[in-house]
This record gives sequence, structure tokens and C-alpha cells, in this order.
Amino acid sequence: MEDVSIYNSNGKRNGRTLDHLRHVESMATMPSGAGKIPRLNAVILEMYRRSIEDPAGFWSDIASEFYWKQKWGQEVYSENTDVRNGTISIEFKGGITNICCNCLDRNLESGISDKFALYWEGNEPGVDGSLTYRQLLERVCQLANYMKDIAVRKGDAVVIYLPMLMELPIAMLACARIGAVHSVVFAGFSAESLAQRIVDCKPKVVLTCNAVMRGSKIIYLRDIVDKALTESTGNGISIDTCLVFENQLAMKREATKWHEGRDVWWQDVVPKYPTTCSVEWVDAEDPLFLLYTSGSTGKPKGVLHTTGGYMIWTATTFKYAFDYKPSDIYWCTADCGWITGHSYVSYGPLLNGATVVVFEGAPNYPDSGRCWDIVDKYNVTIFYTAPTLYVTRYSRKSLRVLGSVGEPINPSAWRWYYNVVGDSRCPISDTWWQTETGGFMITPLPGAWPQKPGSATFPFFGVQPVIVDEKGTEIEGQCSGYLCVKGSWPGAFRTLYGDHERYETTYFKPFPGYYFTGDGCSRDKDGYHWLTGRVDDVINVSGHRIGTAEVESALVSHPQCAEAAVVGVEHEIKGQGIYAFVTLVEGVPYSEELRKSLVNAVRNQIGAFAAPDTIHWAPALPKTRSGKIMRRILRKIASRQLDELGDTSTLAEPAVVDQLIALGNSKI
Ligand code: PRX
Repeated sequence: MEDVSIYNSNGKRNGRTLDHLRHVESMATMPSGAGKIPRLNAVILEMYRRSIEDPAGFWSDIASEFYWKQKWGQEVYSENTDVRNGTISIEFKGGITNICCNCLDRNLESGISDKFALYWEGNEPGVDGSLTYRQLLERVCQLANYMKDIAVRKGDAVVIYLPMLMELPIAMLACARIGAVHSVVFAGFSAESLAQRIVDCKPKVVLTCNAVMRGSKIIYLRDIVDKALTESTGNGISIDTCLVFENQLAMKREATKWHEGRDVWWQDVVPKYPTTCSVEWVDAEDPLFLLYTSGSTGKPKGVLHTTGGYMIWTATTFKYAFDYKPSDIYWCTADCGWITGHSYVSYGPLLNGATVVVFEGAPNYPDSGRCWDIVDKYNVTIFYTAPTLYVTRYSRKSLRVLGSVGEPINPSAWRWYYNVVGDSRCPISDTWWQTETGGFMITPLPGAWPQKPGSATFPFFGVQPVIVDEKGTEIEGQCSGYLCVKGSWPGAFRTLYGDHERYETTYFKPFPGYYFTGDGCSRDKDGYHWLTGRVDDVINVSGHRIGTAEVESALVSHPQCAEAAVVGVEHEIKGQGIYAFVTLVEGVPYSEELRKSLVNAVRNQIGAFAAPDTIHWAPALPKTRSGKIMRRILRKIASRQLDELGDTSTLAEPAVVDQLIALGNSKI
């Protein structure tokens, strides 16, 4: 322990982060519940050290295992000295490749063509399907050929608005195969949200299905797309083709509304195309996809990921954080409409040649045992979910590794997951990351170091997390502050589509020289990281990221709403709930009906998942003299921490606070 020289051969920049890991090494010699920590620990530490000291060599070695039409040049990474963003991008400069080829063709060549790539479990128990790697490639090629035929070209955007049918990963891979940039929109978003995204990225084609069953409810996806396209046309965007998959389990084609000339049945055209399709070779830095995510202002951000770095990042993080073995059956409960589904339903596992369970339904349909029935049915060995997926029952024998994502997992939930679900056998990978990071950033690696319930533990290879204070000064040792990342990593997003300035302002200006994550974090005496949640105006509801500003703008669009302020509150099931303070237009009385209609405004503008849990009538909102809403106070009122309101004397009208508290009590 005294001799830390192996860590710091390259000066301070590396030394500081590696300090965190010194503690881990000391633990390597400590007895744990399972005896000595395995030797792996030292190997992992050595890999981490190399990833920081020699990123070019480290990532080159890993990337060499993939197929490159043309290898990257001398410089794997380019040092970007632009002070505004201060990043070093690891870009595989000059490399030419294709991620679909690496997921499918490369794996087929390695001899796994008859291995199952996807197991599909439908909404109704007993309804299922599967595709081997060969069959998946054939389906992807047919769709790719169709898209080429309707003139979708490299660099064109394609919007995918599909539920968790196998056609969703197929569509993503087909886009990647022809170099088109997919933008998957979660099929729970409303027509307005979909239109907003369509207008922003101007796709050549929209892929959807006629309808889907979600639990016992039917959702008419084609009609939502239709509405969104009408709205987009009003904004000058016209889409020639809407490819509609006939999801017979939900709805027959005869019952489907149709826009003649624009709508095309998937099953009528796609199967007619050849099952082979040449690969469009793309530059490592060519865009792979756009995924819209919420920020602290109303407009969603189009997070742009490129091909080479994202490919290496998702493949490597998947392999190590889940200790992946070829015999594993892997299930991630996320929807491909979110980043978790992109990186850890589609790309990461398929790049590794894994067998992936794709689940269409809801975890509690027909009952709360559904998840465990699925684990048993497919003998799932690696299970990755959000802590809010509240599940009862008992441990499952097939499980080997458990993953958690999306929100801080509290120690008691952690213990429950570990003891009850994992039968005290399965390590838990509490993976901290973001849409922007492309893949895991801080995560345990099974068996590599002792776990602590509720801690995401240590950084993945190549990641240098730092904790800074308000002034942006890095804090050492045991501390709490803002989580930033020093330097860059292969999976980092490259820009916000069409708004590079916002990219710089949001992520690189707050703490110059670092990428700012928007999260709070503490580090304990052993160097473990404990995520404490967002420090900006973003809330995590059931693993879905929602900007308070988006909900507020949906509320104020209601003709009877004068003003709204939204905060997150702790929620037993969802992690965080949405709590909205609403001031009505003068003279409008409070009513239950109005409450419902406000909630509906949010459902219609964003989607049901963003509906507020509570509407708190507010005669006025607490504001500073300069008119800024004091959210700190609203958060305390929402969580009934009334003795922690702090200083209210700077408010323009301090009496507002008492009124709000009184109304909250009366539970209107
Ligand atoms: O606040 C963090 C939380 O989710 C945010 C990122 O949300 P999104 O981009 O939608 O991606 C979700 C899936 C990666 C982060 O800023 N978060 C994610 N994982 C964890 C987490 N908070 C605590 N612990 C985690 N493991």
C-alpha cells in the first residue's frame, strides 16, 4: 500500500484518479465474505492503469478485435485543445468500419450463425419468437435493401417509433448497415413530442407499427405518427414514406387507418427484398444515431453518437461489467427508446455475440411475477434493470450477475436485490452512466473489488471521474460535490445535433476543463463513489429522464394555467415522482376536473410517463425579488421538510410560503 509508484509514472493528471483505486488494491489482500478477493483484482487494476496512462495503446488493442475495413491511423485519439470544451476525444481517427457488420457479419464468421441472437417475449405470456444470428442478419438486410430502394442514403436520418418488437433492433441495425442515422423515439412519447423530434432531425422515412398492446391497453402508434406527421408538415417537413409493421397481435390491418400514398405495410414490401445487403462503410466519426433526451430547458437535446468509439465502448463495458460469457442468456428490461436499450439491448450485447431477451410487455402484466417467469423461461443468467422495477417473489436459480441503472439504488433496495433476487450469490453491477456517455462510466466489475450496497464503486477503464466544488476546484479524498469527468472516453457523445453551442454551454462551461455530468456525488474514505442524484432541473422517473422545464411548458400551455413550477420528490416506486405547483389564471377556481385536465395536457404534450403525480395549487410561487422561482423552497414543501425551508427572507413575498404550506395540508 505504501508503494504507489506503479500508478503514477505519468505525473499528476493520472495520479489523482488512480488514488481512488489505491484503496481497492489494499482491499485485495483483505478477507471478504467469499474468502480472498480473486486475483482478477490486480489484473483489472493494471488494465485501468494502462487505460489512463496509455489510452491510445489500450483502446487500439481492444479495437483490433473488431472488423475495420481500414484501420485507424497513428493517432487513435486527438487531443482537442479547444478551451471551450477541453476534451480529448478518443476517435479512432481515419478508421473505416460498420457497427452492424461487427454485430452480425463478424459474429457469423466466427461460427455462431445458429446461436440465438434474440429471444422475443410478447406482451401476452406464451406469445414469443426468436431469431438466430443468421436470421437476424437476413431480416436486417431485407429492411436495409428496402430503405436503400426508397433512397435512404448514408447520413440520412430515420425516425423509428416502435415498441419492443424484434423489428426495433432490426430497424436500428438496418440503418447502421446503410450508414443512415437512426433516431429512435420511445413509443410512449406523444404525437407532439414525436413531431418535435421529426422537425428537428428531418428524417427520410418513419418506421412504426399499427398498434401495440401494453398490458391490457391498446396503443395506436400509427395514428400517433399520423398526427405527428400532420404537425410536421405544418412546420415545413414532409415525409414521403411511413413504413408500418402490421402487429397482428394488437390489431389487424383492416382496422388500421391509412394515409394512401404515404403509408406502406412493412410485410408487403420488406420480405420481397434480398436477404443479403452490402455494408456501407463509414468513418469511425460518422454519426450512428441521434437520441433525444431532456435537459434543463424545454427543448429536448439531440445527443449525437458516432460509430467507432461508441462501438468499442458499448462492447467493452458490456463484456466487463457483466462478466459476459458466451453461454450467458442476457436480459435488459429497458426499452430501445432510451439509451439503455440502444447500448445494452442492441449494440453492446450483439457486438459480443450474446443471446438477448427482448420483452415487449410490462413487468407487472399479467402479474408482478412476470419478470421472474421470463427469467425462468429463458434461463436468464444476466439480468439488468432499474431499481424501480419493483418485484416480489424469490430468487431465480439461473441468475449469475445482476445489473442496476437509472437512479441511485438505496442500500436497503440493494440488499433486497442482492439477497432475495440474487440469492446472495450474484454480484450487482450498479452502473452509473448517461445518454451522453454512451455506456457505463462508474460501475463495479464482478469480483474485481468488494461491493458496497448503494455505491457504483469505481470508474470503468479510461474514465477519470472528479468531484468538484461550486468553484470548479477538484476535491480530493472523502468529499461531496459535483461529478465531472476529466478527459474523454471512446463512447462520449460528440455534439448536440444542430446546437454545438448548447453542447459546450451545458456540459463544458459550468466547470472549465471538465465534462459536467449534472449529477451530485460523494466519495467515501475508501474511494467509492456514491451518486446522489441530479443537481440540475432534471428528474429521473422510473429510469426515465424528464426535464422539469418540459413539464412546466406543457402545463402552462393549458389555457387556465398561469404559471407552473415542477420539482422531483422521492417516490417509493418510481424513484422520483413529479410534483407540480400550479398557479391558475385569475378567477379560475380549483377543481378535480381541472387537475385532471392539467395532467392530460402533460400526457398529450410529452407522454403518459411524464404525467405529474401531484398538482399543488399555488396562489403564487415563491420568487426572489428579481423574479426567479426559488425551487429549493418548493422542493422542501413538496417533500414536507417544512423545518428545512432555510432562509425565506430574500423572497419578494415571504407570505407565499405559508399559503403554499396551508394549501398542501388541505390536499385539494
Ligand atoms: O442522474 C443519473 C441517473 O440517470 C441520469 C442519466 O439519465 P439518462 O441519460 O436517461 O440515462 C439513464 C440510463 C443510463 C444520470 O445523470 N443515473 C443513471 N444511472 C445511475 C444513475 N444514478 C445513480 N446510480 C446509477 N447507477
